[in-house]
Amino acid sequence: MKGRDIISAFDFAREDFMRLFNEAKICEKKRTLRIAEDKMAITVFLEPSTRTRLSFTAAMLKIGGKVMDFGGIEASALMKGESFEDTIRMIDGYDPDVIIIRHKVEGSAKMAADIAEHPVINGGDGMHEHPTQALTDLYTMYKTFGKIDGLRVALLGDLKHGRTLSSLSYALSMFNDVKLYCIAPPILQMRPEVVEKIKDKMPCKFYNSLEELDEEIDVLYVTRIQKERFTDLQEYERVKGSYIVSPTLLSKLKKIPIVMHPLPRVNEITTDVDAMPQAKYFEQATNGMYVRMALLAEVMGLKIPAE
Ligand code: CP
Repeated sequence: MKGRDIISAFDFAREDFMRLFNEAKICEKKRTLRIAEDKMAITVFLEPSTRTRLSFTAAMLKIGGKVMDFGGIEASALMKGESFEDTIRMIDGYDPDVIIIRHKVEGSAKMAADIAEHPVINGGDGMHEHPTQALTDLYTMYKTFGKIDGLRVALLGDLKHGRTLSSLSYALSMFNDVKLYCIAPPILQMRPEVVEKIKDKMPCKFYNSLEELDEEIDVLYVTRIQKERFTDLQEYERVKGSYIVSPTLLSKLKKIPIVMHPLPRVNEITTDVDAMPQAKYFEQATNGMYVRMALLAEVMGLKIPAE
């Protein structure tokens, strides 16, 4: 994947996922590598982030590279009216080996990639995509089940605004016999353009609540209602708190699935789920660092030494 931009989950092929999982496993075992000592990443997070920003930073440091962070918008010349395009042109001029960008506007990562000569990785663009979260999610499923093929995955929550859900759905659609269950209040269901891209590749069923689900699932992927993306806050008030995953709710399912969440969690999973062996969300966040070590190495043309 040397020199490639990673803007969408569709920038990965099934074999890329499988190779990156194996490399991530080696990174996890070795913990640190000294393969990127002359490399520099620039992180540009123009929308809040804890996991994506810090796991990319940790990943780069753990493979031996350096990271320069753009800092907050308020400390930058964006506040003086400098355009996004000029900002990217400037960053690219500092000759980074990779640029990782998050922005609230859909399509901004692609715009940055079109401007920059160096590879750009999308750390989340509005409601659109979050491809390295999909990589993280699939790696967590792969570590748990030893496969992705054949898994039954339920997505619960704000499927309309969640970029992790679109990228995860695209990634799952590349595997065989995966079944997808989309569970959300009607106004938060998956966007038609996302469904359009997966419906011929993977069976998808739609439900209004988890209680309606009448089939066994392997994975329950929960997401937060994304208040910041609502244009009508009254609509947010109507749906907030409409699903809360608790041990009691999980025990009513035909089989207790593993519980995943891209985080941050607000109140959609009660904290007493955390102690259940099926709760995978904190491990999932840690896995994000290992897959990003593997991905950064590949994009920068570096080899992860064999075990
Ligand atoms: N999962 C995720 O994207 O988390 P952050 O918003 O903290 O980066």
